[in-house]
Amino acid sequence: MKKFITLIFAFVFLTAKSVTPPDEGMWLPILLGNNQTEMMAKGCKLTAEQIYSINNSSIKDAIVWFGGGCTGEVMSNEGLVFTNHHCGYGSINELRFNKGKNRDLLEDGYWAKSKAEEISAPGLSVAFVREMRDVSELVQSKLKGVSETERATKLQEIYKALIADATKENKYEGLIREFFSGNAYYLFLMERYTDLRLVGTPPWSIGKFGGETDNWMWPRHTGDFSIWRIYANKDNKPAKYAADNVPYQPKHFLPVSIKGYKPGDFTMIMGFPGSTKRYEFSKGIQYRTDIFDPHAVAERKIRLDEWKVAMNESKENNQRLNASWAGLANYWKNWDGEKRDLLKNNTAETKRIQEAEFEKWAANKPEYSSIIADMNALYNSYLPISIQIPLTLNEGLMAAKLASLALSFSALDTMLTKNDTAGIRKMVTQLKANDSTIYSTFIASADKRIFGRLLDYYYQNCPAEQRLEFINNLISKYKGATPLASFQKYADMVYSKSLFGSKEKFDAFLANPTLKKLRKDPAYIHISAIYSNYLTKYKPAIDLFNAKYSTLNRLYIKGLMEMQKGKAFYPDANSTMRLTYGAIEDYDPKDAVKYMYYTTLDGAIEKYIPGNEEFNLPKELIDLYNKKDYGRYAMKDGKMPIAFLTNNDITGGNSGSPVLNAEGELIGLAFDGNWEAMSGNYNFDPKLKRTICVDVRYVLFCIDKLGGATNIINELKITQ
Ligand code: ARG
Repeated sequence: MKKFITLIFAFVFLTAKSVTPPDEGMWLPILLGNNQTEMMAKGCKLTAEQIYSINNSSIKDAIVWFGGGCTGEVMSNEGLVFTNHHCGYGSINELRFNKGKNRDLLEDGYWAKSKAEEISAPGLSVAFVREMRDVSELVQSKLKGVSETERATKLQEIYKALIADATKENKYEGLIREFFSGNAYYLFLMERYTDLRLVGTPPWSIGKFGGETDNWMWPRHTGDFSIWRIYANKDNKPAKYAADNVPYQPKHFLPVSIKGYKPGDFTMIMGFPGSTKRYEFSKGIQYRTDIFDPHAVAERKIRLDEWKVAMNESKENNQRLNASWAGLANYWKNWDGEKRDLLKNNTAETKRIQEAEFEKWAANKPEYSSIIADMNALYNSYLPISIQIPLTLNEGLMAAKLASLALSFSALDTMLTKNDTAGIRKMVTQLKANDSTIYSTFIASADKRIFGRLLDYYYQNCPAEQRLEFINNLISKYKGATPLASFQKYADMVYSKSLFGSKEKFDAFLANPTLKKLRKDPAYIHISAIYSNYLTKYKPAIDLFNAKYSTLNRLYIKGLMEMQKGKAFYPDANSTMRLTYGAIEDYDPKDAVKYMYYTTLDGAIEKYIPGNEEFNLPKELIDLYNKKDYGRYAMKDGKMPIAFLTNNDITGGNSGSPVLNAEGELIGLAFDGNWEAMSGNYNFDPKLKRTICVDVRYVLFCIDKLGGATNIINELKITQ
């Protein structure tokens, strides 16, 4: 397999045209040698070895997987890390409750003026990629003769053995991921540091400026950054928090350029994009537009609305829910836009045309000839039950906190049944240790309304033949004027009687947990009925679908690569380190409208609404604006830049990623995609898809002029 892939990339190398090719693709840095010519043609001054090397320090040594869902970059030889504000605000939110400091870190911002003022963030970690290895042949040789239904289980075994072998002489975390739906496998050796400390964050009004109204939108004026430091033990190795840990010394850190940029200038972004499905079938697009997206969006709206009611009730509620609410709102808006754009751009039809071409090519090739027909048949039987995913799981009936919390007690049920005292004790300790976190975002009144409304949503949208009998029966049993009224009455009963209805009750139950009490709990009875129905009636079919899907998708991609020899194929995002290259570029969002490629502080002031929850600004910033006191961070025309656009190919997970110029200097941080290209996970449209980045000059201006943290500025290597 390795050779196969190399061959494909070698072809690109030979056929690379001198004209600027589209910037689609999230490339594996390990295979970069093959993209070198194209990158050079676009202006890149770095060699593949300078970007990724195992033996020498390279840019990859300055990139971290931040908190498991974002990207960060090391900015000094003392382990200073930049990432997005929205990647760190969950942690900052936790800190504001357990620090004795008389200061709201999230609301007011924070700047440590010395290392002693940095604040430890338990639970946060970053991981470096120390090495990537192609293990395709190893994995595939062990998969020979394994059936598609056994494949997933067998893969876990293979991964476990390979990882054990690769990590027996080091302290790395091993990770193996499937690429091209299983046409290739790579092993990643990651080194995780767990002593992270908050160094600086702008006030919420800057870091989150524009709120949900501006989210996924251009023109943008958000100072979406925060600053952290990695600490290590005396040997520069990962260690648990200790007061005498020392700043981590990286193999490489990124220099900063405040020289600016112009359209066409080379840009590259390295980071950990989470998930794309660029090789999806037309029927898979139909699943998104007809099933998942519309239902998940409607269900999230219920949660968002009810939380908002609670947040408006008190400042305390607002503080408790704010960060989580923004997280929910983020993908609520994303999925809504995704559905709209997949339909508007006719993505399913585009895929159908590709499938027809493939079928023509495959007609006399027995290995490939029936893939499309098989996939259509597979989806035809799957689509009707696939509605259970949004209706029952995370976005559906399990989205009420009480429901998911009760479900997590099924493990305790098993142990109580077995009378496994050690197991019980362990589980109780675990649950107790987390009770504050669990209940920090639990507001019973709001959760109860969500519980009732999600039941009603399920009742209204689940096809009658799939609907659970016990849910139907609640209507006659509770005799409300409407089904919703019945569900709300039922919810009243569940929430008043459940052992999990408040932190106090929860702790009281854990002090003396018995099977009898657990099995009598109405929330537990409720969710157990729903989940066991899902497990017996739907999960086996869904698992089978996934197994068959992955077999067909694997063959399809293999066939596409044969069919389009000479075309560069890049693997879908899967939270592994990738590189995308492109340039600074504006776009035309619609008829008669042209968007500039950068925004300035003038625009933030235009949007400013005093006291508004989305468009407020700190007084200090407005003072600086009035004095035009931007120091060396202003552009030549004296304005303060805030955000800019590139045509790089990124997705969720890239948040916080460094945007580098041709010399490998940081010019900004990627933080969003744009509203006109929300179908981007399925289809890359070079005319419309852009990456939204915060300009590093604005970041430095905030640190220096607003925060007065010259200590941070002095650590950076700045070229101007
Ligand atoms: N849409 C951006 C992302 O997914 C920002 C998310 C946070 N901001 C927000 N307004 N919820 O990376």
